[in-house]
Amino acid sequence: MSQDRVDLSVDLCGVRLPNPIILASGILGTSAALMERVGRSGAGAVTSKSCSLQPREGHPNPTVIKWGPGFLNAVGLANPGVEAQVEILRETRHRLRDTDVVIIGSIFAETVEGFARVAEALSAAEPDLLEVNISCPNVAHEFGAPFASAPETAAAVTRAVKEATDIPIIVKLSPNVTDIAVIAQAVEEAGADAIAAINTVSGMAIDIEAARPILANWEGGISGPAIKPIAVRCVYRCYQTVSIPIIGIGGVSSGADAVEMMMAGARAVGVGSAVFWGGVDTLGRIAQEVADFMVGHDYARVSDMVGLAHSGGGER
Ligand SMILES: Cc1cc2nc3c(=O)[nH]c(=O)nc-3n(C[C@H](O)[C@H](O)[C@H](O)COP(=O)(O)O)c2cc1C
Repeated sequence: MSQDRVDLSVDLCGVRLPNPIILASGILGTSAALMERVGRSGAGAVTSKSCSLQPREGHPNPTVIKWGPGFLNAVGLANPGVEAQVEILRETRHRLRDTDVVIIGSIFAETVEGFARVAEALSAAEPDLLEVNISCPNVAHEFGAPFASAPETAAAVTRAVKEATDIPIIVKLSPNVTDIAVIAQAVEEAGADAIAAINTVSGMAIDIEAARPILANWEGGISGPAIKPIAVRCVYRCYQTVSIPIIGIGGVSSGADAVEMMMAGARAVGVGSAVFWGGVDTLGRIAQEVADFMVGHDYARVSDMVGLAHSGGGER
């Protein structure tokens, strides 16, 4: 198989990505200039930082700590609010107008009704896809726990957002549950067009000299290589349960990691923390490594690898 015979493009809910590697929300998705740089360096899609109806300051510092093979963060969804985010997405579209990079707008709210309002407002920027972040572990919600914690609340948000927009929606799930597949099924039944798995894994680190948690928010979310096996399992479980496309996120930093996610069932793969080590070119490098793997292993299309680790696997 030669490089030019490998087709890296994937279809996500009717939207064509030039390759399956997506910038995950919250990492460099804070400005149009940064999203342009990631897009131009080879990402198939870029996701903006999750935005809320009103601007949010987030938690006090420290909000991010480097921990072993990953990060622990409790940024608290600091963002300039949906009105400003509409402008950021419009500018991103303008800057990337001569490329085929897909733009994903991410939304967050503290109530079901709030999700509908942010979805409607951000849709004015016409992102190609809308990601619904119901899984941030570091912020307060109407029902206490994140909406992704229970099938009923996850489905309620999904239904409300579907009614508020015509843009296909990706619902982002949490690993901090007993069985993610139950939640995946609930959001699929409620109308989700795709799911993203996973958001960060809840965790805590303690400064033993000060005898107190290091993060100002005390607890936070773990990301990076440490969570990859958790993410792979979550994607695998979801693939067994739902038929909508899955975006696999969590600990991916190489083409081999991305292929592993695909074989677990992911049609596209989100990359976040790896950018902190590898820089803006990380996503383009990972996409190239996926292409190299396909050449070396005679896979003509990405879909040939999706779900392969399941017995009788294949794209779904
Ligand atoms: C500093 C930081 C900020 C994040 N902000 C968001 C966010 O705004 N919305 C969201 O859905 N996920 C957010 N995430 C989660 C990532 O999108 C991703 O799901 C998670 O980090 C796992 O992927 P990774 O191991 O490749 O980083 C954030 C992660 C980090 C490290």
